[in-house]
Amino acid sequence: MTSKHRCCAAGLIALLAPFGLAQAPASAPPPTNPPSKIQSLKLDTGKQIFEAACIGCHGSNGKGALESSTAFERPATFPDFSDCSGSMRERENDYKAAIYYGGHGRGFSEIMPSFSEALTIPQIDKLVQYLRSFCAEPGWPKGELNFPRAMATEKAFPEDEAIITTAITTKGTPSVSNELAYEKRLGKLTQLELGIPFSAAKDSGNWYGGVGDIRVGLKRVLGQSLRTGTILSAQGEVALPTGNRNRGFGNGVTLFETFGALGQALPGNSFVQVQAGMEFPTSTKNLPRATFWRTALGKSIQADRGLGRMWTPMVEFLADRDLVKGARTNWDVLPQFQVTLSKRQHIRANVGVRVPANNTAGRSTQVVFYLLWDWFDGGLREGWK
Ligand code: HEC
Repeated sequence: MTSKHRCCAAGLIALLAPFGLAQAPASAPPPTNPPSKIQSLKLDTGKQIFEAACIGCHGSNGKGALESSTAFERPATFPDFSDCSGSMRERENDYKAAIYYGGHGRGFSEIMPSFSEALTIPQIDKLVQYLRSFCAEPGWPKGELNFPRAMATEKAFPEDEAIITTAITTKGTPSVSNELAYEKRLGKLTQLELGIPFSAAKDSGNWYGGVGDIRVGLKRVLGQSLRTGTILSAQGEVALPTGNRNRGFGNGVTLFETFGALGQALPGNSFVQVQAGMEFPTSTKNLPRATFWRTALGKSIQADRGLGRMWTPMVEFLADRDLVKGARTNWDVLPQFQVTLSKRQHIRANVGVRVPANNTAGRSTQVVFYLLWDWFDGGLREGWK
């Protein structure tokens, strides 16, 4: 990095600071660390560094030192690195940021010290690898395969998340449709999903509101590889006719849906996510069978050499087609922008515009927005500073 760039990054941070948008500590870190004291102790392996710098608090087994031997009060989020469920879902960069900037730099407890001066970046990289080795059970999908959530294309990664998505129709009959999705991970490869839609629409001058068809789904990871950067899942779900069909809030019939979801890492922090599936109503009198295909392309850009706030521009290509004779495929394009809001990055927002690309009769442009809360990483009000 040239000094010119450093000046401007610092300037930008100073500019954004009053809005709480800057995450870096006031003094930007040097591009590389000078050889440290710890390095002079010839600490080469992750294990050696961990034992010299971390076991006092985290314990030699990564579960945390004996409570009687540590003076601090453990925060609820205090990690047990041997717990695969907690440690494998973290991205290496997230651990790296916590070690480099300390707990405070990531919206965690200040008890976790910053090691930006005591350790070099290569040493921190070795530590992160070592932390991951505490999980003894193979096959847990790693956080690197947890690609940023697109607006419509479902992820392959099993999550502990709550998302509220809002779509506002800009032309024609005004309507606001929302869905609250709740996702809960069950063990290594399974995830339960609950979707509660609720909408408001204007009809003959009056606004009507109501709950839509509530859906329940089960996702299962079929395969994943960190080496190739691939994760593949299948999901089955059922939508119950809880919504009022006459008001346009529901289908009026039970609907079964099944889909496959694929996430693939591409070079330069880019990714592609694909979801393809079919919908089977229990009666095709009012609702035909249908098929859909969704693709999201995106790239994540992270401040502070990959350790700070994350911005992810994405574009989705969305297709659906009724399985009836002569039906045409509807295509939508949805450019969008996701950003991490909290310092801990567990609260994110995404905003985009869904534009019908063909068959535009009866299909209007929508402004879409979501707010995402990765509740495994902490409460809604935690992790902001
Ligand atoms: C003085 C005690 C102390 C020392 C020394 C310490 N830690 Fe921590 N560490 C903590 C505490 C407390 C937390 C939990 C912070 C929270 O959840 O709010 C933590 C959290 C972490 C996290 C974040 C986990 C997550 O959930 O994202 C990582 C990674 C970590 N420590 C690694 C290390 C490494 C590696 C070392 C040695 C280089 C180290 N720690 C040394 C106390 C310590």
